[in-house]
Amino acid sequence: MTANLADSMEVLEQLRTEAPPRIAAATSVADLDALEADLVGRTSPVAEARRGLGQIADGAIRGATGKAINDVALEIQGLLDARRTTLEAQEASVRLASDAVDVTLPGHAPRRGTLHLIQSTMDEIVDIFVGLGYTVATGPEAETEFYNFTALNIPATHPSRLESDTLYLDYGDEQDEVLLRTHTSPMQARYMEEHDPPTYVVVPGRVFRADAVDATHSPVFTQLEGLAVDENITLGDLKGTLAAFAKQFFGTDTKVKFIPHYFPFTEPSAEMHAYTNGQWIELLGCGMVNPAVFEQVGYDPARYTGFAFGMGMERMAMVRHGITDLRALLDPDRRVLEQYK
Ligand code: PHE
Repeated sequence: MTANLADSMEVLEQLRTEAPPRIAAATSVADLDALEADLVGRTSPVAEARRGLGQIADGAIRGATGKAINDVALEIQGLLDARRTTLEAQEASVRLASDAVDVTLPGHAPRRGTLHLIQSTMDEIVDIFVGLGYTVATGPEAETEFYNFTALNIPATHPSRLESDTLYLDYGDEQDEVLLRTHTSPMQARYMEEHDPPTYVVVPGRVFRADAVDATHSPVFTQLEGLAVDENITLGDLKGTLAAFAKQFFGTDTKVKFIPHYFPFTEPSAEMHAYTNGQWIELLGCGMVNPAVFEQVGYDPARYTGFAFGMGMERMAMVRHGITDLRALLDPDRRVLEQYK
């Protein structure tokens, strides 16, 4: 055996002991590729030992040496291949995990809107009256002059009929005039024409007046009309019903008072005021249905009495939440109305 050959056999022996821990320590396929070139590649001690084989003259020794080299090479290659299988599997599962969609994660929920304060106020007030036994009806926003005024005993000379107060859509003959209803009261007449007493109905809806927007006015606002007609309905029923409503909506200790007022379609008529936030504030108009209206719609005024009321939803919301400027309700900035969710 030449000194050269003895040296390279020693190197191979060393490799046989060093290679396994180095292979085990490789943590990626790329690491392992480099290590493989190092251990069994073209410039590795294994390749070098193989190249030295030609210098061995003795065929038997050459054969035995070649087999020894191959044994080491195969042993190392076996370890490399096993490690490669493990690392490839690990890397594949990491890739899979990072690509995976977790269907149990919460999604990106769309921002949920809420009802506008005017709508939620209206819903709540309608619910209060439904709880008292009232049904709900709605009517046209484009109304005839007849239902908006004449059927309600509003005389031709009344200022609310003026163009400056009312938004007319069509000036026809007097009976055909079409306008944006100035209140929900026309539904009193429409409803009574269609339904026999006893009548307990509320009518929520938009109304329109020729007003500029300021802290307390808007050309479009929302009313809730109420009408109760039965035998033996008295002013006491009106007061008790509306006081009960005020307590339910503003709080059980809410005081109310009734101040005489005038509406052509009720007699007597009143404004109801409530004591909230340390002051008396006007809440709504009301009164006993004028027998002239009963005659107009075909109810027998000798047999039936009733009361009616009309209230503004914007005002109810403002009083309840202490809002002093109506324009806050019309502000498109969500932060304004989010306070009253
Ligand atoms: N319609 C009246 C208004 O808009 C309110 C009202 C309704 C008054 C019913 C009495 C009875 O001012």
